[in-house]
Amino acid sequence: MAGERVTVFGGTGFLGRRVVRRLAGEGWRVRVAAQHPAVPDGADPTRTEPVRADIRQEREVAEALEGADAAVNVVSLYVEQGSTTFQAIHVDGAARVARRAREAGVARLAHVSGIGSDPDAGSPYVAARGRSELAVRDAFPGANLLRPSVLFGPDDAFLRNLAAITRLPVVPLFGRGRTRLQPVYVGDVATAFARLLGDPGTAGRTHELGGGAVYTYREILELILAHQGRRRPLLPVPFAAWRTLAALAGLLPDPPLTTDQVALMATDNVVTPGAATFTDLGMEPAALAERLGECLPA
Ligand SMILES: NC(=O)c1ccc[n+]([C@@H]2O[C@H](COP(=O)([O-])OP(=O)(O)OC[C@H]3O[C@@H](n4cnc5c(N)ncnc54)[C@H](OP(=O)(O)O)[C@@H]3O)[C@@H](O)[C@H]2O)c1
Repeated sequence: MAGERVTVFGGTGFLGRRVVRRLAGEGWRVRVAAQHPAVPDGADPTRTEPVRADIRQEREVAEALEGADAAVNVVSLYVEQGSTTFQAIHVDGAARVARRAREAGVARLAHVSGIGSDPDAGSPYVAARGRSELAVRDAFPGANLLRPSVLFGPDDAFLRNLAAITRLPVVPLFGRGRTRLQPVYVGDVATAFARLLGDPGTAGRTHELGGGAVYTYREILELILAHQGRRRPLLPVPFAAWRTLAALAGLLPDPPLTTDQVALMATDNVVTPGAATFTDLGMEPAALAERLGECLPA
């Protein structure tokens, strides 16, 4: 890999920063492509170069890929705003990166989606992730698709939001808190990207990336409460009530809760039996409990 070039679209994001650091650490020359590009803290500046690229712009995507040996797409959009839609970013943008990469002779492409991505899903976000996988495969058949469960790590939105909820006098649950999640450490997912790009034999494969342990939502809240030395009653709240709340929150400019997040919390998000996963990459992913102390101040 030493000296090979990789363009990381979304390389300034929560996952992207770790992917950039990991690839640069392994000797890749990394272009960090984003609308507001910057070299992430801790990334080797001699091997890392910021490049402005909006994945909605043909020319910018093509320029960011010029001379690249590999490409990574970890661009994100969680809340639609005006013309910045899930279709524009997750589907059309992802397809553009894949098509332009193939046309430019880029040998490897790794694209992130998520466990449960399904073009027929009721949630517009999950359905767009499903269509993104089809569009990427169509444009670049040898692409690697990485489907993580919910990511956690230092400064993540997932643990930070849960920690905020556990400060309330009564902690509301999504339903009865029985939805099963397999939170995956962001650094493990970054390592998986590096292993996949470093092994041409994996081209065209899909990996589902879940952490070392499965927890119910209730168990995760209990872990966080124990970690913070707090005791709080946990209150079941029906999903219908959450959907109404999220619809009302959607009227705010920066909604704290979206109907897509509620939909995600209503469905188990764990590795599908039989799917290729970390084990196939020779990795043992961390469980949330093992790394909670590093990720969330007590
Ligand atoms: N976080 C999770 O729990 C989780 C779980 C499963 C899958 N995923 C997937 O992992 C990916 C990364 O998530 P994240 O949480 O790391 O996201 P994030 O922190 O929000 O980062 C998003 C990145 O995308 C870039 N970006 C946004 N719009 C862009 C555009 N039009 N053109 C180019 N770059 C653009 C952002 O930089 P600029 O704004 O400067 O452009 C930033 O670098 C997403 O696809 C997400 O769906 C995340």
